Amino acid sequence: MNNSQRAAGGSIIPAVTRAQRLVRIQQSLNKLPSVPVVVTELLRALADDRSSVSDIEKYFRSDVALATKLLKLANSAFFSFPDPINSISHAAAILGYNTMRSLALSAWASELLSRELKPYGYGKGGLWKHSLGAAFLARALGHRWKMGAETAEELFVGGLLHDVGKLPLAQHSEEAFLLAPASADSALEILVREREYFGTDHAEIGVEMAKNWRLSPALADVILHHHDPDPEAEGASQAAVVHIADWCCNTRLVGMVDYRLPSAKPNATCMEILRMPELDLDLLLEESDPIIEQAGKVESAIQ
Ligand SMILES: [Fe+2]
Ligand SMILES: [Fe+2]
Repeated sequence: MNNSQRAAGGSIIPAVTRAQRLVRIQQSLNKLPSVPVVVTELLRALADDRSSVSDIEKYFRSDVALATKLLKLANSAFFSFPDPINSISHAAAILGYNTMRSLALSAWASELLSRELKPYGYGKGGLWKHSLGAAFLARALGHRWKMGAETAEELFVGGLLHDVGKLPLAQHSEEAFLLAPASADSALEILVREREYFGTDHAEIGVEMAKNWRLSPALADVILHHHDPDPEAEGASQAAVVHIADWCCNTRLVGMVDYRLPSAKPNATCMEILRMPELDLDLLLEESDPIIEQAGKVESAIQ
């Protein structure tokens, strides 16, 4: 690898080494916004059946911006309820606590995921669009494949945060990474290229972020394996569904401004894990299109 580059004036600037990049990335993880206590407590309360609606309202009262965003999401065209949802208690009654959790986390993550990620081909808001598409699609697939309502909401969160590790990596990439061979022709090649350049990849960094945010170990597992699901891992089927949802969004170029050829097929291990060897990919894409389109309406509702 070339360890130096020429500045405009002709002088040679030593390039940052992989080890230095890794140290900088690790340091930057501590500077990323943490999940505010109110959000963590709200998520915990929404996961607890014993929480009353007035308990839930109390958390939203201390974060009005979060409540406003959640109501915008609930009123977006994705859900298309006939009457507007005007209050948190109304949202709780109509959506239920599980969906409220997904939307509360989305409301918090929207700003973070809306950053521009040029090295990965996302303009401003591109990763947010991609993440929402994967989230709503993973959730829908979870329902369609009868994985249970609770798992479907876990799939939503996995879809939403699967690529979150790209944020710190994009911040620490230079021209050499931008001009990397169009690694996206295989999702696994992105990880290989990242390891070569940063000494880590976005799946590993995503796991560290999830741990820092005290998100569940199951979610960390989904993030770690979203490119290469491991049949032995605990959340294997969730990782497989998120991988398939991610593949559909990549194939449909959701959020991308500068894209290279997507993988022709999802990782075959997913179909083994889900025991669906005959999964019809053309039909899957066709059935996914309306969900991806609806997710796009959610994205514009909150911006
Ligand atoms: Fe990824
Ligand atoms: Fe992705």
